[in-house]
Amino acid sequence: MYDFAPDPDLEPAERYRQLCDAAEALTSGEPDVVANMANLAALIGEFVPDLNWAGFYRVLEGSEGAELVLGPFIGRPACIRIPLGRGVCGTAATTGETQLVVDVHAFPGHIACDAASRSELVVPVLRQGRVIAVIDLDSPLPARFTLDDAEGIERLAALVAERI
Ligand code: SME
Repeated sequence: MYDFAPDPDLEPAERYRQLCDAAEALTSGEPDVVANMANLAALIGEFVPDLNWAGFYRVLEGSEGAELVLGPFIGRPACIRIPLGRGVCGTAATTGETQLVVDVHAFPGHIACDAASRSELVVPVLRQGRVIAVIDLDSPLPARFTLDDAEGIERLAALVAERI
């Protein structure tokens, strides 16, 4: 059993340092990408407060070209396939840039998988300059995510890019 039990009062920088340490411990030496993404989604859920969804969409080739396909996550069942360029996730995948959305209702084309979501953070995972996946965090709180969260999840994305 793993029990990371993060302190709820941690400052964001320390919270994400501990999250990255835990991610390193759980994924180093494990070649199975599904196992790694599953544990990473669970870790995000343990370390980052006030989320209703956290997980992965991978860039995969479909019958009509590349698209985002749902990967391991915590939260309610979600949209399975998202076209590149669509929604917050598709925008992050196409631009290769983190999307920090303070109000999902104000984001053109936002895809509502869980009606409870009010704000969202999507970070692309890049391998050799190509987006291979995105990490998506949803919160029921408006304006839940800050630049500290974006930087923390970007560090996590860089750490795990070769392991998912
Ligand atoms: N809201 C996302 C869709 C994925 S769910 O939030 C899990 C989007 O607009 O791309």
